[in-house]
Amino acid sequence: MTPTVEKEIHRSLAGKAEEKFLNAFFVQYKTARIVDTNNKTFKQQFEVFKKAMGNLGTEYDFIELKVIAGRYFVNESMVRFDGSGLSGANAVVHEWDKLGMGGISFNRTISFEELEQFFIFMSKIKPQSDNIDSLSEKLKQNKLASIKLLSKASASRGGMLTEEMVKQYRTQAKSTFFKAMSVVKEIVVNTQQESDVNIAKTKRIVHSLIDHISKDESSLVELASIKDFDDYTYAHSTNVAVYSLTLGVRLGLDRARLSQLGFTALFHDIGKVKLPTDLITKPDAYDENDWIQMQMHPHLGAKTILRNLKFDMHTARAARGAFEHHINNDFTGYPMLCLDKRETTLFSKIISIVDTFDALSSGRVYLKKNIEPEDVIKKMQYQMKVKFDGFLLKLFNDIVGVYPVGSLVLLTTDELALILSNNSTDKTKPYVKIVGDKNGIFDSPEWADLYSPDNDHRRIVRKVEPERFGLDVKDFILEH
Ligand SMILES: [Fe+2]
Ligand SMILES: [Fe+2]
Repeated sequence: MTPTVEKEIHRSLAGKAEEKFLNAFFVQYKTARIVDTNNKTFKQQFEVFKKAMGNLGTEYDFIELKVIAGRYFVNESMVRFDGSGLSGANAVVHEWDKLGMGGISFNRTISFEELEQFFIFMSKIKPQSDNIDSLSEKLKQNKLASIKLLSKASASRGGMLTEEMVKQYRTQAKSTFFKAMSVVKEIVVNTQQESDVNIAKTKRIVHSLIDHISKDESSLVELASIKDFDDYTYAHSTNVAVYSLTLGVRLGLDRARLSQLGFTALFHDIGKVKLPTDLITKPDAYDENDWIQMQMHPHLGAKTILRNLKFDMHTARAARGAFEHHINNDFTGYPMLCLDKRETTLFSKIISIVDTFDALSSGRVYLKKNIEPEDVIKKMQYQMKVKFDGFLLKLFNDIVGVYPVGSLVLLTTDELALILSNNSTDKTKPYVKIVGDKNGIFDSPEWADLYSPDNDHRRIVRKVEPERFGLDVKDFILEH
């Protein structure tokens, strides 16, 4: 991790109430196993826990703590939380897994006495003989009605949401994605015609993307994996915004910074508007002269943003992002900086990674040939030490993964599955949608978390070509 990334992430994460709550919860959970409630350490830690709980927002009637595919959530927000730290959450979650538990829900009105009783209760469980049903029954007998244990199925997306809600999320994701594409189109057309760009509208669509990614990451990443839209130029900037914001949410950036990041991503290639259309749409590989022109787009982009848009923090960051997104960590990219080799910003480092991934996997930009997404990641990892920030690339790899979102795989059960999101704990066990089997494609696909013990019989054999099975992934994603 470069110093800029470390500094910026540290700043954005400082004081995060949900992260502190998770930490205090798991430390308390473990402390209750070691000492009794009269112990000084228990009491001190309980004060920390009470304070952390009090600092959580009050917009929910419940506090829900869930672990889905190795990621931690407090209510509907994903929290950047390292379970292997002092709190030792990973060991606790592993035990929950064996019990069939995926989380805990507290009624907001719960008393501290009840919470104390709950920690004592959980310290006495026996994973060999207990399970979620027996524990829930015992909770009732102990009059701890304000606490509910969440099963793995109800904590994970497919179970937690009704089928109707899943459909609703996916419909919303499609609508937001296509609205974002139309906003990009408007930005391009207005810039071409030297007319005003609607900044408020652009910020609004970025906020819609942030809202959606915060509650449902996979639907938008899945849409971004479709590369064969006719209007790929507009889809590219939309994809870069979706990938950047997904990475930003995983980094735990606050809303103001996510807003600036999404805005920067939508404008990153605006300089191309000032280049001849023939060059942008040229179907063949670029010659030297084409490259000289193409390499002007970062500079032209920054200039266009600063000249055409009202100056504020969003536009300042967007101008810098447009200027820096091809520079590379080792300054081997463009524009070449001769004198002031200043380290690029966090936003430029993020955009540099996701832009390269989208451009290479689409085969539409620069390199006029299609490269498989996993080969793109391999190629990028080979170059990572010099070109990209290693930490950010690793995080991005968790999002697009060993089996990139949108790829089709064959399972040991002879079923076909579409990758929806990756599991950061075990990348070979992603969250998938079973779309068919030997007999053909299903009318209604089935969701499955391959990390769940319920799906132990389902293992990925290999990636397969959708065409071999008569499946058009783009149509499938859009229809289901
Ligand atoms: Fe670019
Ligand atoms: Fe780009």
